[in-house]
Amino acid sequence: MKKVSILGTGSYIPKRVLTNNDLQNFIETNDEWITTRTGIKERHIVENENTSDLAYHAALRAIEAAKINKDEIDMVIVATFSGDNAFPAVANVLQSRLGLREVMAFDINAACSGFVYALNVAEKALRNSKMNKALVIGAEVISKYVDWEDRNTCVLFGDGAGAVILGEGLGDIIDNNCYSRGDVNRYLHGSGTPLKSPENNVGNTVGNIEMNGREVFKFATRAVPSSVNIILEENNLTVDDISLFVFHQANLRIIEKATKDLNIPMEKLFVNIEKYGNTSAASVAIALDEAVRSGRVKRGDKIISVAFGAGFTWGAILIEY
Ligand SMILES: CC(C)(COP(=O)(O)OP(=O)(O)OC[C@H]1O[C@@H](n2cnc3c(N)ncnc32)[C@H](O)[C@@H]1OP(=O)(O)O)[C@@H](O)C(=O)NCCC(=O)NCCS
Repeated sequence: MKKVSILGTGSYIPKRVLTNNDLQNFIETNDEWITTRTGIKERHIVENENTSDLAYHAALRAIEAAKINKDEIDMVIVATFSGDNAFPAVANVLQSRLGLREVMAFDINAACSGFVYALNVAEKALRNSKMNKALVIGAEVISKYVDWEDRNTCVLFGDGAGAVILGEGLGDIIDNNCYSRGDVNRYLHGSGTPLKSPENNVGNTVGNIEMNGREVFKFATRAVPSSVNIILEENNLTVDDISLFVFHQANLRIIEKATKDLNIPMEKLFVNIEKYGNTSAASVAIALDEAVRSGRVKRGDKIISVAFGAGFTWGAILIEY
């Protein structure tokens, strides 16, 4: 069977930094509240760049790291809920901007789980087709959806992008799972775009993020251990066999609770939430790139990544790097 390996990773973070103290200029909050509840110290937000710009730079870095010619890329998937426009897809914009062949290019929206979903789809597509290499990206400009007057949510999120090139190589994507529950999506969603009609031709609006933090916290602390346990059991592995856990960076307390419940030693955990906050579909992709570039991951290591987010959606992936 064809192997589907991570050939290279890249990420791109917009320059503007917004520290917890900076947020005090807009809302009533403080560094101590945000740090103790979330682990976040700062986040980056765009100034003039949009989602495809972040995705473009992350993709260039992944292509360079993979040491491939961009003409070898057979498919592009971008995980995002914050594309530049409702359509066309960010992936379509990138196909042209990166100067790729006329390849399949589309976006996936599974909120913060999007990148893990996209890896799942790309892995199956490569394994079962003539396509050999995929560019998979998680990219978000969440600042567009943030209500900057709502202290319950605005402190949590940040913008960024991460990318991988998948193709035949030394490693493999061993297994993955993805789940969804739509009955509880009221707990975390971007509020709607209103309907229009000839009689009521009101302008479009971009919805704000609305969240019930406690319910999301409860869900996430159940979803992460559950999907990790399933993937370990189905592959006859234990935590000891895994070199690094790269969880979705939504909240340090969620990561710590899941880690404790799974008996994962802290040194097997990759955490960068203090720098970026929750970058949704970009979060696991950025973390993976930083883990690789900082030498935390070596060829042959087994990694488990778990993402969770609005929907709810969640899923895990087991990678031999
Ligand atoms: C959001 C979250 C950090 C809140 O933590 P919490 O422990 O539930 O909050 P607490 O009950 O301790 O505090 C709530 C109080 O803090 C206040 N508060 C909320 N945001 C605040 C902020 N940024 N600064 C200061 N105070 C704040 C609230 O108004 C509330 O005050 P009140 O009790 O006077 O009404 C937590 O619920 C969480 O992390 N949930 C998951 C969110 C998430 O990860 N979402 C994305 C998933 S992909």
